[in-house]
This record gives sequence, structure tokens and C-alpha cells, in this order.
Amino acid sequence: MMTPLLLALAAVAVALAPALAVAQTGAPAAATPSGGAACLEVIAHRGASGYLPEHTLPAYALGHGQGAEWIEPDVVLTADGVAIALHDVTLDRTTDVAERYPDRAREDGRYYAADFTFAELERLRVVESRPGRFPHATFRVPRLTDVLDLVDGLNRTTERRAGVYPELKSPDVQPGLGAAVLAALAGYDLPVRIQSFDAAALAALVTDLPRVQLIASPAQLAPAGLDEIAGYAVAIGVPAILIYRDPALVERAHERELAVHAYTLRADQLAPGFDSLGAEVQALIDAGVDAVFTDHPDQVLALTAAQGAACSPASTAGAAPR
Ligand code: G3P
Ligand code: CA
Repeated sequence: MMTPLLLALAAVAVALAPALAVAQTGAPAAATPSGGAACLEVIAHRGASGYLPEHTLPAYALGHGQGAEWIEPDVVLTADGVAIALHDVTLDRTTDVAERYPDRAREDGRYYAADFTFAELERLRVVESRPGRFPHATFRVPRLTDVLDLVDGLNRTTERRAGVYPELKSPDVQPGLGAAVLAALAGYDLPVRIQSFDAAALAALVTDLPRVQLIASPAQLAPAGLDEIAGYAVAIGVPAILIYRDPALVERAHERELAVHAYTLRADQLAPGFDSLGAEVQALIDAGVDAVFTDHPDQVLALTAAQGAACSPASTAGAAPR
């Protein structure tokens, strides 16, 4: 259930976004004759996590309200098999678990989500792990179904069609994760892309939903590797730094009908060699990248609009930051 505070945040966020948006699909963006992507989609990375704590309903609501085409929850399982939005399989970095349950750490000193029921996790508060960001421990760890309710509801009330882009986190140690995510998604009519770093788990998913293979190292981008990925995925998720170093990798992926989604742009942590977020966005547009994960969707949307590379009318809101 959405709290009054969450409703207020969502209302503010939604008020910032225009009512119209184009429908989204899991398919790669169309390429222009010059080879560049027709537009650069914006994915709210862990929600609008530059402004509110990652993987909280307020952060997702803000990302939607800012006009992001996609909302990204990372997903792990609790002890009772509930799919929750969380980046790590442990709770230490992003919650106050050590204060609430001081006796529940494993021998390695870490607190694992798999050792707690969802009812126990409801006592936790999410904390910000990055310096200089949101200072309060106010919000709770949501279930994936809470995220889906939120995006579906906001889509209806704003007449938009933002998508959900869940990542299967460590499915090798959570064998029921893929099935749990698919079961949750089945209850909604939302654009979906499913992503994972785990190629075996992603390829083995029994689903018609579009899949995105996350890339961790350049070796995975060799021709044979791309050929294999193209057998089950519609896109690759690539560290932006690899694209800056080798923009031609986008063309190699496109030749195999794989879209390229870059991660992760942050206004408060630019990539080495760049002096502005705008320069990073421009480099991705020039390379023909199709979508980008960002902690600051509003700023990237404004920049793509300024460059004529916005995918949605929503991204015409706001002025481009320098
Ligand atoms: O899923 C794309 C990007 O989010 C991968 O990095 O660590 O933020 O999940 P991470
Ligand atoms: Ca992710």
C-alpha cells in the first residue's frame, strides 16, 4: 500500500511530466541511415536513485514522473520466496538491518536477504550508500509486485506506458528467481525487458519476453560471443566506458540485431575523461547507443531532447544541464 508520503512524492513527480508518451516495446530502437540510433531511451537506474534511495517506491515514482521510458528494479528473493527490489543479495549496504537484527549476520558478517522473510524485512528502512545523496532513512524495501503496481498505476493515471526492466541478481544462488519474476510479471500488462549478467540463467528462461544480456568484460563482445547472445537476447547492456573506448562495438551489435544499452550515467560521478554529463550523453548518441541507464533520468532526458535524440515527448520537459 502506498503511504501518504509516497503518494505526495508521486504526485509531485508526475506533475513534472507531460501527459503524452509513446508506447514502448522490448524491441531495439530503429537505426538511422547514418548508423546512429533514432533516439536514446532513458532507463531510471534503480529508480531516480540520484535523488532518492535506490530501489524504493519513491525513487521509482520519481523516475516515472521525470519521464523515463523504463524503470529498473534489481530483484532478489527472501527466505519465503518473495521477489524483492534490491541490488545486493545482502542487506548491509542499503538498509539498517544491522541495527534491527544485530544477531542475524552470517559468519562473514553479512546479512543475507535469503535469511529473512519478507515480513521481517518490512521492519527495515532503506539507507543511502552514496555520499551527498538523500540523507534520511525513511523508506522500505518493496516487493517486485509493489513496483509493478506502482508503474502500472502511474501509467494509467498519467496515460503513459513506461516499461519495467527487472534484473535477475545472482540467479546461480537463487534458483527460483527467474520463475518468481516471470510469475509476478504475468499479472500485469506492461512493457518488459528482463536482464541479467548470468548468461546461462537468461538463456534458459522459458519466456517470450525480451531479454537483455548484461556485459561485464570486453571479452564477451567478441564476434562469437555476440553471435551466441543474439540467439536469445534482443540487446546487450554494456558499461558506458567500454563504448567510449570502442564506439564501433555498437555497430557490431546492431549487425546482429542486438540493441545496445549503456550503464550507468551519473551526474555526480562522471566517467573518466568527461567534464560534463552532456558530453557523456553526446558520446553515446554519436556511437548510436539505443538506451542508457542513469541515476538522473531528468537530466539525461533534457540532454537527449536538446540533441534531438529523445524517444518520448516527456523528455522535452526541463532545460538541459550543462
Ligand atoms: O543492470 C544494468 C546496470 O544496472 C548493471 O549494474 O550493478 O547497477 O545492477 P548494476
Ligand atoms: Ca541493475
